[in-house]
This record gives sequence, structure tokens and C-alpha cells, in this order.
Amino acid sequence: MLLALAGCGEDGGGGAGGGAAGGASQTPSYATDIEPIFISDQGCYCHNMEGLGAPFNLLPGEGYGNIVNVASQQVPSMLLVAPGSLNDSYLWIKMQNTQTEVGGGGQKMPPGFSLTVEELDLVGRWIAGGAAP
Ligand code: HEM
Repeated sequence: MLLALAGCGEDGGGGAGGGAAGGASQTPSYATDIEPIFISDQGCYCHNMEGLGAPFNLLPGEGYGNIVNVASQQVPSMLLVAPGSLNDSYLWIKMQNTQTEVGGGGQKMPPGFSLTVEELDLVGRWIAGGAAP
């Protein structure tokens, strides 16, 4: 059934997240470095599946516009991604599983498994570096 939700990549998992900005000096971009992570870690599937209650989609080419400078549904006073600020980005807080500290709830993201240290570091550098498209 998952494959029926194509549009999230051929094999649906196991891709090596992260692109060109693996090197610490470069500023990560969403299209090259972050989208592959969200797709390879199934975020794209869950955040595209009707009825699952995942509040926005992460489909290729659409995820950026759905998370950057967009208000969270769980904590409407916060943005999902506030460019330049990790502490003001609810998406980052959900990935740290500290959502209850800001009045949020639900599970850590992604639920049930963890991104690699390198992938988390890349997402953090992307947000702190201004969340380039
Ligand atoms: C790296 C990948 C992922 C990211 C960055 C992510 C991010 C988020 C964020 C920021 C929220 C809160 C939305 C809001 O407050 O408006 C959320 C909620 C949710 N996500 Fe994800 N997610 C990811 C992967 C997944 C996966 C793999 C699943 C399915 C297994 C999933 C299912 C859900 C569900 C059901 C909710 C609403 C309930 C809750 O917060 O626990 N997400 N996600």
C-alpha cells in the first residue's frame, strides 16, 4: 500500500539522507540536503497519508512551503521552521522530543525511530543557517 502513495521516492526508505552540505563549512539547503532525509525517513509517507493526522505534507517539492514560516497546529504561537532560530522552530523541538516544554504534545518526530546524528546535525544547521530553500 505504501508504494500506492508514490511521489515519496521509489523505494520509500533506506536512502542516505543529506546531500552536498555534508561538509561543516557549507550551509545546507532544503532541496539538496533536507528533503532527501524527510523522504528517506518516511516522513513524506506519513505526512501525506490521509487520516493519519500528520498536519502537513512533505511531498517532494512541496515540503518547504509547508513548514518554513508556517505556524504549528499544535502550538499556533510557534512557527514549524523559524529561519535562523532552533528554539523558535517547533519542528526542531518535535525532533528533540521536548514539545511538552513549549506547551505542545504528541510524539517525537519521526516517531518510532531516530534520525542519525549526522542527519539531525544537518537539519539543525539548515534551520540555524537560515533555512535556505
Ligand atoms: C523526519 C521526519 C518527520 C518530521 C520532520 C515530522 C514533523 C512533524 C511536526 C513538526 C509535527 C507537528 C505539526 C504541528 O504542530 O503542526 C508532526 C506531527 C505528526 N507527525 Fe510527523 N514528522 C516526521 C515523520 C513522521 C512519520 C514517519 C510519521 C508516521 C509514522 C509522522 C506522523 C505524524 C503525526 C501522526 C503527527 C500528529 C500527531 C503527533 O504530533 O504525534 N511524522 N510531525
